[in-house]
Amino acid sequence: MKHTRIIVTHYGGPDALQVLEEECPEPKDGEVRVRVLAAGVSLPDLMMREGVHPETPPLPFTPGWDLVGVVDRLGNGISVLEPGQMVAALPISGAYAEFVCLPQRELVPVPSGLDAAEAVSLVLNYVTAYQMLHRSAKVRQGQRVLIHGAAGGVGSALLELGRLAGLEMYGTCSPRGASAVSGLGGLPIDYRQLDFVKEIHRLTGEGVDVVFDGIGGTHIWRSRKALRPGGMVVAYGLTSSLRGGRLASGRSGRRHRFREIRIFALYIAGGWLLPGRKRVVPYSIQWLKRLRPALFRQDLIALFDLLQRHKIKPLVAQRFPLAEANQAHELLGKVGVTGKIVLVGNGSSLESGTA
Ligand SMILES: NC(=O)c1ccc[n+]([C@@H]2O[C@H](COP(=O)([O-])OP(=O)(O)OC[C@H]3O[C@@H](n4cnc5c(N)ncnc54)[C@H](OP(=O)(O)O)[C@@H]3O)[C@@H](O)[C@H]2O)c1
Repeated sequence: MKHTRIIVTHYGGPDALQVLEEECPEPKDGEVRVRVLAAGVSLPDLMMREGVHPETPPLPFTPGWDLVGVVDRLGNGISVLEPGQMVAALPISGAYAEFVCLPQRELVPVPSGLDAAEAVSLVLNYVTAYQMLHRSAKVRQGQRVLIHGAAGGVGSALLELGRLAGLEMYGTCSPRGASAVSGLGGLPIDYRQLDFVKEIHRLTGEGVDVVFDGIGGTHIWRSRKALRPGGMVVAYGLTSSLRGGRLASGRSGRRHRFREIRIFALYIAGGWLLPGRKRVVPYSIQWLKRLRPALFRQDLIALFDLLQRHKIKPLVAQRFPLAEANQAHELLGKVGVTGKIVLVGNGSSLESGTA
């Protein structure tokens, strides 16, 4: 049987994504073949396509951090899962495919009846948001937080979960994202027109308790200035390394990959050494999952439960067929995308989990 997957053939723009038809993979011992219903498209995918993300695999590779699908075939030694069961995974790469083989331990059961595109929004974006709120910052009801990129995938997840936690929320966004941010309970700040540090101090007086900064670079330092004494910046991304979905510097992604991490480390050290008791702490979903896999599983199951009980409703910006992954990347590179872009498997454009 043939299947389709997307490969990145060289580092570069959306045209680096090619559609490949090949034999369907067979599960090895301990593996499960999953038919992908929905694969998330996120900025880390664009960064890998440009070769700038530290997790970028060697070329050629199939991108795709997160997926929701249906168990299709079991390799030898699989006892817990059954064909037809809906599952989710965070393989970090490989999800842009019709079929994927993954070790059983990577798969988390998805409750039946959930929409695959909404469910996949939880795997990378909402787990990231949930863990930053409750494991890194350990937020308490009534605290003030500033969320950068608040209309984006992770940003909108932080808003939705922050509202459930009873936080007072401010969110930077471009004007097109403002209504989404206020709809999710945040006060929008137009980062293109306003200095967010001045604006936060004007609105709050001494500053916020926590800033969630996925922008990275020197932006982290400005975020630190928006904190009250004793506050914390959770630094988790490098959105500033891209402009219009392409490498902002114009330099090769591979040479850039570790420079940004060194800047990160400098700011984290500075946060400890400088006066003001203002800390900068890093967050990485992939490292937390590698070091504490049970926490990833536990948090994703908690989020599926919230989705099933209609406590959260992820924003799905747009659904694209798998073969149009390049168009999905074009769209994500544009200003003002609200929520998560999702690739759906061939012929399953609006498929919901009914397994
Ligand atoms: N550490 C981790 O474990 C982890 C996990 C997931 C994601 N990430 C990182 O998180 C970041 C966000 O990912 P995503 O998938 O949520 O991206 P996304 O959906 O594209 O959202 C990014 C948002 O940032 C906004 N933005 C761009 N420049 C900005 C600035 N200077 N100030 C304020 N907002 C700005 C964009 O708004 P406009 O388009 O309206 O300008 C966009 O809404 C990325 O850097 C990604 O690598 C990290």
